Amino acid sequence: MITGVIPAITTAAYIIAALMFILSLAGLSKHETAKSGLTYGLVGMGIALIATIVSAVHDMDALKDKWLPITILFAAMAIGAAIGFWRAKVVEMTGMPELIALLHSFVGLAAVLIGWNGALGGFHSSGVNPGDIRTLTNVHEAEIAIGIFIGAVTFTGSIVANLKLSARMKSAPLMLPGKNVINVGSLVLFAALTAWYVTTDGHTGKTPWILLAAITALALFLGWHLVASIGGGDMPVVVSMLNSYSGWAAAAAGFLLGNVLLIVTGALVGSSGAYLSYIMCKAMNRSFLSVIAGGFGIEAPTSDDTDYGEHREVNAETVAEMLAGAKSVIITPGYGMAVAQAQYPVADLTQKLRNKGVDVRFGIHPVAGRLPGHMNVLLAEAKVPYDIVEEMDEINDDFGDTDVVLVIGANDTVNPAASEDPGSPIAGMPVLEVWNAKDVVVFKRSMAAGYAGVQNPLFFRDNTQMLFGDAKDRVDDIIAALGH
Ligand code: TAP
Repeated sequence: MITGVIPAITTAAYIIAALMFILSLAGLSKHETAKSGLTYGLVGMGIALIATIVSAVHDMDALKDKWLPITILFAAMAIGAAIGFWRAKVVEMTGMPELIALLHSFVGLAAVLIGWNGALGGFHSSGVNPGDIRTLTNVHEAEIAIGIFIGAVTFTGSIVANLKLSARMKSAPLMLPGKNVINVGSLVLFAALTAWYVTTDGHTGKTPWILLAAITALALFLGWHLVASIGGGDMPVVVSMLNSYSGWAAAAAGFLLGNVLLIVTGALVGSSGAYLSYIMCKAMNRSFLSVIAGGFGIEAPTSDDTDYGEHREVNAETVAEMLAGAKSVIITPGYGMAVAQAQYPVADLTQKLRNKGVDVRFGIHPVAGRLPGHMNVLLAEAKVPYDIVEEMDEINDDFGDTDVVLVIGANDTVNPAASEDPGSPIAGMPVLEVWNAKDVVVFKRSMAAGYAGVQNPLFFRDNTQMLFGDAKDRVDDIIAALGH
């Protein structure tokens, strides 16, 4: 039962915030409503933050010297907000995935700290000390162990994802001998340690602390191993999977703190992240269970020493002529377009060609770039009309009737090896079948491989020509060559 004005207002505010978060998720699922979705999320978070602060300050009323914790609370918030504001302001669009991975690691770390704090008995936010409710003590201990476990897996997993995404760690999968046994064994050991911890009598002496430390260490190791075992091409799923884990970690922390909003928000993040991972797995023809189990059942890729022959180069003027003479053009952008920030000249080129009566469309691969929807965001930013931006499934059968395909900074997402070479690390992943078009022009700076580190036979096909250089400069050159 809720007694007092402040707890009643807080509860009401939490319900409103939870509704805002649900509206936010609904809004974010469509282009047209994404902006209002974002606004709902911001308002919901604002309400949640104010309600939590008011409630925390109210809880401190009982303390003799309440000003010290209040000062610490606001100082910590000010420092955190300043760092967050600065990082969000300076981050490049291409650095977003690693920043998001890092933010997930903070959620994980917070859940671990809250778990340990709960074990030390240092929380009273729910107004009830679970130690007083004898019959629920075991539930409380289980919450602590599970919260710490999910949090620690999220923490190290997210740090490895951050290192892989920022290329400070090799993106190739770590292939420890018996990796599946390690993963399953770790889960079994966790279950055993938790059962032991929960049933330890009286919670006095060293044993509970040793068990909790063992659970924390085990989970830190498992998080590192799970994500290190997943190869570059599957990283998109890992990022959304860690997003999901961070939600469950927050929900676990919510149970420990007795904070209903944290439980609801955590569950929303956890389930939407899990669903996004599932959709991405389907789009990439990967087994959901295999990816969340750290590449369970995925064998080491065979090495590639194939001689693909010579590639052909082309210049911007020739590409301009090809485009001027084309009836239909499809542009397939990838990570390189984001690096070069070429979306604005690409939008200009599109407009120019459409003015000349050329049918121009975009083909978007579900994992092009480094974030779900990365290319859609860039193209929307440059005001490319939504109706000419098509998903891979919608456009893949049309390449055969297309005169020219411009592959702008894409590589893995247009790699025919995915469908033709069963030994390739990206085998089975559906790709944009650009090679079926009459002519293909690939914009990139060198012959280097893409994110998955795999050679691309497309570059050596008879109907493919390479336009080397920064994508933005080359598109500008084509626009100049096309004239007015
Ligand atoms: P990638 O395979 O990453 O290839 C991008 C290409 O762009 C590179 O080959 C690079 O070649 C070129 N490039 C880089 N900077 C350039 C510039 N300034 N101008 C011109 N070209 C430039 O791209 P993709 O086809 O978009 O595939 C995405 C990959 O990332 C997939 O493997 C996917 O699994 C992975 N991934 C995706 C996500 C999500 S959610 N989208 C998240 C994590 C990982 P040069 O260096 O020779 O220029």
